[in-house]
Amino acid sequence: MDLLSSLNREISELDFSQTLQKTVSFLRKRVARYNWVGVYMLEGSELVLKAWDGPEATRHTRIPIGKGICGLAAREKKTVIVGDVNADPRYLACFPYTRSEIVVPILKGAKVLGEIDIDSDTLNAFTEKDREFLEQVAALLGERYV
Ligand code: SME
Repeated sequence: MDLLSSLNREISELDFSQTLQKTVSFLRKRVARYNWVGVYMLEGSELVLKAWDGPEATRHTRIPIGKGICGLAAREKKTVIVGDVNADPRYLACFPYTRSEIVVPILKGAKVLGEIDIDSDTLNAFTEKDREFLEQVAALLGERYV
């Protein structure tokens, strides 16, 4: 079974908050280069961390929509891939070992509900395949949002 179908099956009986936790844990467990996985939801003008899985907690639990790669993806309603976080001044540092990042908005129509944020310890860890897969995961979360 492909990853998206397995995830879909694992979340089928869960409520939205359990779905977020299951999704971040599933992604981190199933894809080795996804070292830290979080979901932020938009509350007013802030992105608020609702679920995460990784070696340690981030201090960025609330991110103003004007800040960071997270803010950028929410403002532009588009996936942002940063191949080398140390070369990107927009990046808000969380962990010293992070080298690349992808942030994928969770949309409901034209509205941003939140986003999936993944950090990797590998440089240029995220490709178009990751974008495609994670946009499907984000669509699944958008459908399940209540
Ligand atoms: N790096 C993000 C902040 C969140 S942490 O990666 C968990 C950013 O630049 O917005």
